Amino acid sequence: MIAEPAIRVAGLRKSYGDQEVLRGVDIEVARGSIVALLGSNGAGKTTVVRILSTLLAHDGGSASVNGFDTATQPRDVRESISLTGQFAAVDEILSGRENLVLVARLRHLKNPGAIADELLVRFSLTDAGRRRAGTYSGGMRRRLDIAMSLIGNPSVVFLDEPTTGLDPQARIEVWNTVRSLAAAGTTVLLTTQYLEEAEHLADRIAILHEGRIIQNGTLAELKRLLPPARTEYVEKQPTLEEVFLAITGATASDDRRAHDTTDGTER
Ligand SMILES: Nc1ncnc2c1ncn2[C@@H]1O[C@H](COP(=O)(O)OP(=O)(O)OP(=O)(O)O)[C@@H](O)[C@H]1O
Ligand SMILES: [Mg+2]
Repeated sequence: MIAEPAIRVAGLRKSYGDQEVLRGVDIEVARGSIVALLGSNGAGKTTVVRILSTLLAHDGGSASVNGFDTATQPRDVRESISLTGQFAAVDEILSGRENLVLVARLRHLKNPGAIADELLVRFSLTDAGRRRAGTYSGGMRRRLDIAMSLIGNPSVVFLDEPTTGLDPQARIEVWNTVRSLAAAGTTVLLTTQYLEEAEHLADRIAILHEGRIIQNGTLAELKRLLPPARTEYVEKQPTLEEVFLAITGATASDDRRAHDTTDGTER
């Protein structure tokens, strides 16, 4: 039996005025997989995500999520998904916990307080949970934003540039979160401009360029597009990220928790 893909996009077209942004985008995302949509600024990544999350109407072609058509069954699509937009959607006046409780109430879930507390633990935000979200660092805000979007256990999650502006540790934490989501069966479509993020995280990588998906495959498949590697002898230098992580001594969330409790200042 071949399972219906969680996301199916065929011949998708979208123009803004006379600017044709999507010129026939085709992509399928298997259930429980992580697909990274790569593209330069203005390639149309956010446009694809907005169409799939029913925030924007397309001009041609088709898009469906969980078997529901975004144009004709937008309610069913919205019940199946969550969206973490490119810009964080947390309310700065409310505390982290209050933000979570608010979303749980909006989703008509029982025990919003318990749901909020569980997510605070999962995202290492317990200590900061009762503080105004406006005092959070960029990484904490991003984690809260993602936590908010997971309330109600959506089966498909869209993350539009989830790690833009995050430091390397915060980025690794978001990656771990995304991996554990997919391991639990959630389908993830994320957009990114960090090639290394796609390499680390995605089962498949799709490249959006000039309005179309020009390549779509696993990392190994994409690497095979270039001539076979030649053997060269080079002195291995650490990357700046490796140096940074080594001297700040951080890979685990313990460190992040320590950071969170120190004070409320922005990075
Ligand atoms: N509401 C809109 N009205 C007019 N043009 C728009 C609108 N939204 C997006 N565009 C244009 O469509 C193109 C694609 O935008 P989009 O935001 O989808 O790109 P993106 O790949 O997400 O870029 P980035 O990496 O910068 O986030 C851009 O040229 C943008 O200026
Ligand atoms: Mg964008």
